[in-house]
Amino acid sequence: MTNASSGGGRSILNSPEARTEALWWAGIAVSVPVAGAAIWWLSENTINRLAPREYQYRPGTISEYISDLLAKHAKRRRKRQPVRVYMDGCFDVMHYGHANALRQARALGDQLVLGLISDDEIRRAKGPPVMNYKERKTLVGANKWVDEVIDDAPYELSPEFLHVLFTKHKIDYVVHGDDPCLLPDGTDAYGYAKKLHRFKMIKRTEGVSSTDIVGRMLMCTRDNARFCQERRELTKQFSSGEKRVALDELDNGDSSGGGGPRHTTISRFMPTSRRIVQFSDGVPAPPGARIVYIDGAFDLFHPGHVEILKLAREQGDFLLVGLHTDDDVMERRGAHLPIMDLHERSLSVLACRYVNEVIIGAPMRMTEDLLTTFNISLVVRGSVSETGPQDEEEQRRRYSVPQQQGVMRVLKSPSDITAANIIHRIVHNRAAYEARNAKKNKSEAAYYKGKQHITEM
Ligand SMILES: *[C@@H]1O[C@H](CO)[C@@H](O)[C@H](O)[C@H]1NC(C)=O
Ligand SMILES: *[C@@H]1O[C@H](CO)[C@@H](O)[C@H](O)[C@H]1NC(C)=O
Repeated sequence: MTNASSGGGRSILNSPEARTEALWWAGIAVSVPVAGAAIWWLSENTINRLAPREYQYRPGTISEYISDLLAKHAKRRRKRQPVRVYMDGCFDVMHYGHANALRQARALGDQLVLGLISDDEIRRAKGPPVMNYKERKTLVGANKWVDEVIDDAPYELSPEFLHVLFTKHKIDYVVHGDDPCLLPDGTDAYGYAKKLHRFKMIKRTEGVSSTDIVGRMLMCTRDNARFCQERRELTKQFSSGEKRVALDELDNGDSSGGGGPRHTTISRFMPTSRRIVQFSDGVPAPPGARIVYIDGAFDLFHPGHVEILKLAREQGDFLLVGLHTDDDVMERRGAHLPIMDLHERSLSVLACRYVNEVIIGAPMRMTEDLLTTFNISLVVRGSVSETGPQDEEEQRRRYSVPQQQGVMRVLKSPSDITAANIIHRIVHNRAAYEARNAKKNKSEAAYYKGKQHITEM
């Protein structure tokens, strides 16, 4: 029996037709899963990479119908797989120029990943950072256009690091401003990304740089007292290049001036209504929202501001920030302040994710009218103030109306950093920052010499 059945089996496989049939079945058994896997892989992987996610119809290239189809497809793709852009930087003494770069970078894709450069790398490349890593991270993390932060990013975008960006972080493009960024050996830091066609350029914001702001702080210190006395008339030209001659004359006349770069800005900040619109949410408070109000100078927007704004926002649904005018700030804090003018301060505050709206030039003293006009439910202020405890009396006077109405709350400031504190760091390290600025001066000059018009996002 056993022999017969095994013999029969052998005889089936021995017949040529049966062997062909068995091969067919085996072939099908293997190829069906393989084909299935291939289709799955193509749809998941290759199509994700090949299909356009940013399709834009250019007239004369493709028929309308196909173009519509592609555009629709691109939109669907983007929802499933957002375009991610990467931007790196030090973001030391963060200002609205940085914020504007981040805004433009974000507009090039759907998500912005920011690579924050470590303190050590900054020290090696530029000199001592003004703000430490934690402070810089607080600032960039609070920017409303930043979705993620990659810690300790390198200066150089080496092939290895780019590979990590493209695979692990799923980055589509690397973005940088139109100013050249050279490595110590003179090569372009973004050269490799450009070669891979994974680079996009954005326009640098005119009239502002960290170097310029550090310069402003250095200019307005004790040994420049005479300059600061005359600051009042010079406020308007302060960040401009227009009155260069006048400033230089002033420097020469000041015998105690220790030389070094006093005025490094060539371009000037030109506030436009469009810029404010770009930074603004443009969304009014929803009906029934609990509106919280906080006011101040918000000069040299720093981590202390971020933390108190976050806390203030948590007290309600909508945060309204009142910014004091330059004259008011000057009167209270001295002729050398504010370092940033009202427009500049407004943009920095608007770029913060916890802020919904600003009043550009708010009254120093809270009035009933202000509370009514904006339907303010709660007025808050931080326990740490720029001027210190000596002006408690003045604070009481400023907030007497909300106090009487029972809508005033003093919040314990999570951080004790102040603008004065930051100016102190720079003045304390004067030599180092003057050297840093002199170094930067050269590349700045070169940039402005070769500057061309670039359309802003
Ligand atoms: C900075 O650059 C300007 C030219 O743009 C030059 O006149 C000035 O002397 C430079 N200052 C220093 C300290 O290098
Ligand atoms: C004003 O704010 C209160 C919350 O404090 C809210 O109940 C009310 O609806 C708001 N008014 C308007 C017109 O939004």
